[in-house]
Amino acid sequence: MAFAVSSSSAAIHTSSFEQTKGTVNFGQIGSFQPFDRPVLPSRRRWAVKPLNAEPKRNDSIVPSATNLIAPDVVEKVEVEDFEELAKELENASPLQVMDKALEKFGNDIAIAFSGAEDVALIEYAHLTGRPYRVFSLDTGRLNPETYKFFDEVEKHYGIRIEYMFPDAVEVQDLVRTKGLFSFYEDGHQECCRVRKVRPLRRALKGLHAWITGQRKDQSPGTRSEVPVVQVDPVFEGLNGGVGSLVKWNPVANVKGNDIWNFLRAMDVPVNSLHAKGYISIGCEPCTRPVLPGQHEREGRWWWEDAKAKECGLHKGNIKEENLNRHGNGAVHANGTAPDADLFTTANVVNLSRPGIENLLKLENRKEAWVVVLYAPWCRFCQAMEGSYVELAEKLAGSGIKVAKFRADGDEKAFAQQELQLGSFPTILFFPKHSPRPIKYPSEKRDVDSLMAFVNALL
Ligand code: ADX
Ligand code: SF4
Repeated sequence: MAFAVSSSSAAIHTSSFEQTKGTVNFGQIGSFQPFDRPVLPSRRRWAVKPLNAEPKRNDSIVPSATNLIAPDVVEKVEVEDFEELAKELENASPLQVMDKALEKFGNDIAIAFSGAEDVALIEYAHLTGRPYRVFSLDTGRLNPETYKFFDEVEKHYGIRIEYMFPDAVEVQDLVRTKGLFSFYEDGHQECCRVRKVRPLRRALKGLHAWITGQRKDQSPGTRSEVPVVQVDPVFEGLNGGVGSLVKWNPVANVKGNDIWNFLRAMDVPVNSLHAKGYISIGCEPCTRPVLPGQHEREGRWWWEDAKAKECGLHKGNIKEENLNRHGNGAVHANGTAPDADLFTTANVVNLSRPGIENLLKLENRKEAWVVVLYAPWCRFCQAMEGSYVELAEKLAGSGIKVAKFRADGDEKAFAQQELQLGSFPTILFFPKHSPRPIKYPSEKRDVDSLMAFVNALL
């Protein structure tokens, strides 16, 4: 995908743009922009000083009125293909990627800092020796430790973090109508939208590019394909329109452990919550420490299912789960045809609706059962096919039956009401002597974790 930027870091006025596959075409880039307003003197209007050179509390990444006026002349314009650049930088170090990002976008790019181990981004930016900007979304619900950490980071690097706050009236409406903890009742999306996503959108509207700490290993479900640089698939930048913003993910390919080695080696200050068992850190009510061996994402919005665990900041990572169902020539994650059924082996019993209803009614079963509630088009179900089939092989002849129940379409409401279906896949254990099935609470669906669950309940 191509993206046009001015090498002078001045914004380019475009009245329209077209986006075709792989190319973003910005109106009259590189030419004088006729505007029905007085002709301005020929100096650049927003060649602003780097914020970290002379910090001022009221500096903001939201464009001010002056910033909204286009420059008279855009001196030199590059057209960049960011898909190509992502390929070129795939094996580059985070420091090289950071350097490239800051070099290209100067004052029109900022690091999105959450207050967790993504402080590594700030260290990398610092190491480049270039000026850089940092913003944070202060949701009003962060841990006290995170606020202290922000302060420490500001002092350590001599920077001012550009905090973005939610709209007071929107927060007020939400909290007055639904209370302070509505996210435990009806999901985190609404609160995240008000406290995070909209402030982020405002912040990004003042930039041409942003830098995030997303890593592939943070969420096998949603982040496994994060490139080091991409045209942002969701948010708009200063020029407006989808495709007007570039998103850099310099640590996309770095493993969590290596981030920690780097932080230690460089003696970077870290959030004191990490010493209390937290890995991924978000808002206080929605983050908790994880146990040894648990995946870091399990400490976030733990009452919800895996696929919901993008709060909207990076929702471009979530692919339509029913993409396969509607064709597009796509294949399952396991390589089979789009509408092919899953778990098709003799060791997995295919339960019909009456079959699973019977299983629910029985107080004393001859055998314990493990049942997956699934939908063939769901990519998380597809991803666990191998491990579930292996589980069935391992349990064959053990006195524990392994089964599947297709719970989408007409069966979905029943499965939600009677079988604790949240999202696909839901795995249930039906003990021998208890009527109520026990839901597998984890997102780890490898065969060892599933075996541990079964063994724990026997
Ligand atoms: S989230 O979408 O689940 O909240 P996560 O905590 O994994 O995101 O962080 C991934 C990246 O998103 C961070 O490294 C950071 O770049 C950005 N980010 C997350 N939360 C914030 C925040 N409160 N302020 C600024 N950036 C954030
Ligand atoms: Fe609200 Fe929780 Fe989202 Fe924070 S993480 S914005 S508290 S729902």
